[in-house]
Amino acid sequence: MQIQPPYNKPFSQSSEENKDVILKIIAPLLADRQTLLEIASGTGQHAVFFAEQMPQLTWQTSDLLESHSGIKQWLNDANLPNVLPPFQLNVSEDTWPNTRYDAVFSANSFHIMGEHNVEDFFKNVSKVLNDNALVLIYGPFNYNGQFTSDSNANFDIWLKNRNPQSGIKDFEWCDALANKAGLTLLDDFEMPMNNRILVWKKSKKRLPQREIEKMNRIINEANKRGISVSELADEVFREMFE
Ligand SMILES: C[S@@+](CC[C@H](N)C(=O)[O-])C[C@H]1O[C@@H](n2cnc3c(N)ncnc32)[C@H](O)[C@@H]1O
Repeated sequence: MQIQPPYNKPFSQSSEENKDVILKIIAPLLADRQTLLEIASGTGQHAVFFAEQMPQLTWQTSDLLESHSGIKQWLNDANLPNVLPPFQLNVSEDTWPNTRYDAVFSANSFHIMGEHNVEDFFKNVSKVLNDNALVLIYGPFNYNGQFTSDSNANFDIWLKNRNPQSGIKDFEWCDALANKAGLTLLDDFEMPMNNRILVWKKSKKRLPQREIEKMNRIINEANKRGISVSELADEVFREMFE
């Protein structure tokens, strides 16, 4: 498909290219959710596309102030009833809303942020989550301290040259921060172009450390085999009943 960038407003080629594959993963997860907060909405392209494709969701955009005019242009042109104008949200500042949501989504933001920003994200995110809410994070991650591809390693150098604080974050480090925030990893999807979608769920009750470690072993096994946790579960069930 030929893409005709609308040059009259900020445009992200990568958002255009990844929106369909992201939708395929997040749509079933969000089918029974009503409200979602997007952090670091960027141009607003994801917001209008996902809100249109998931009309049951009210999609709240947010970002640093400098992105707001672009987001508003995308929202005005789309004129959808279920996507809300951005509010100012810097994950490290006291600008988090008092509202609670059924899900939080953020794409391609953790590698732009410094480590302290990602720590602040996890320190604060629970406050805006309803019980059983989901946190969905799209982007590149490292595993066991290793880049998952040469292109990610080169991307990390490029990012750090631009801003020494930014860079691709370790999956295990993020997951430990999430666990501390009362979030449990539900799944880790391998995506095209060496990206992932990490999905955490806010548990009413904190899982005991032993259970968290068990889940992490299952996730590592799925990663080793290059499949998702649900695919691994399907395999195990098939073996049990064959
Ligand atoms: C690479 S863009 C990704 C935008 C969009 N989500 C996408 O996928 O195209 C990174 C975004 O992170 C936002 N950002 C950077 N630091 C942030 C912070 N401390 N708090 C919230 N957003 C931040 C930037 O304003 C920018 O919109």
